[in-house]
Amino acid sequence: MKKIGLIFLAAIMIITLSGCQSKKTSATSSTTKAETSVDKIKKAGKIVVGTEATFPPFESVDTKDGKTIVGFDMDISQAVADKLGVKLEVKDMKFDSLVEAVKTGMIDFTAAGMNPTADRAKVVDFSQVYFNTKQVLVIKDSNTSVNSAADLSGKTLGAQLGTTSEKAAKTISGVKQVKTMDKVDELMLEVKSGRLDGVVVENVVAGNYLKVGGLKIVNVPELNTDGDLGIAIAVKKGDADLLKVINDTIVELKSNGQYDKLLEKWGMSK
Ligand code: ARG
Repeated sequence: MKKIGLIFLAAIMIITLSGCQSKKTSATSSTTKAETSVDKIKKAGKIVVGTEATFPPFESVDTKDGKTIVGFDMDISQAVADKLGVKLEVKDMKFDSLVEAVKTGMIDFTAAGMNPTADRAKVVDFSQVYFNTKQVLVIKDSNTSVNSAADLSGKTLGAQLGTTSEKAAKTISGVKQVKTMDKVDELMLEVKSGRLDGVVVENVVAGNYLKVGGLKIVNVPELNTDGDLGIAIAVKKGDADLLKVINDTIVELKSNGQYDKLLEKWGMSK
C-alpha cells in the first residue's frame, strides 16, 4: 500500500516538473531565437578555458616568463579558439573546482588532462578522448624497497585532490594514508623530502617531473583497475554547439597532421 502511494507521488512529481519545463521552453522559443553558447563566445570575442597548471606536458607555467600557461592542452585550446576566430583566455584554478566552474559558466570548457569519469559526466559533457594515460607511482630515486603494490603497505602516498589518481591511490590495500594537495609540483617536493613515500600521477606527467632529478617511476598495475579512461575536454551539460566545435577541432588536428606534431612538440607518444 505504502509502495503504491510512493509511486503515485513520484508520478505526480514527474508530471508537474515536465509540465513546468515545456512551458519554459515554449516561452523562450516564442520570443526570440535563443542565442547559442557559440554565438555568445563570438560576440565576446574570447573563449575561456579552465585548467590547473602543474600538470606538464598537458599544462604548466612557462619557465621562460614565469606566467604564460603552455602545454599540449593549451595548444588544443588555442586551435578551438582559432576555429571560432576568438581570443583564448586561460584561467588557472584548483583542479578540484574545474567541473563546478564549467557547470556555473565561469569557464567555457576545461582542458586539464581530465578523465571523462562517469561521476563527472553526470555534471558536464565530454568531448571525444584525445589522449591515453595510465596511473603510475613516483618515488625517491634512492628508495629500493618499493617495487610493487604489496610494498606499499603502511606507506603514506600523495595525490592531487579530486583526481582519478587520488581514487587510484585509495584502492591500494594496506596503504596507511593518502594525503591530497592541490598542486602536483608540491607533491613531488614532498616525495623528495621524504614526507611522502610516493605520489600517484599519470605516466606522461611523471615522466616530466623526473627531469628535475632525484625521482623515479614504479609501475603498479593495481593503480589501473578502472582501465584507461582517456583524456577529454568538458563543456557545460547540454552545450552541444560548443562540444561540436571542440570535437571537430580534434578531428581536424588529427587528420591534418597537427596532432602528431603537437605530440612531438610536447614529447608525448601515443
Ligand atoms: N587525469 C586525472 C583526472 O582526471 C588528473 C588530472 C589532473 N590535471 C591537472 N591539470 N592537474 O582526475
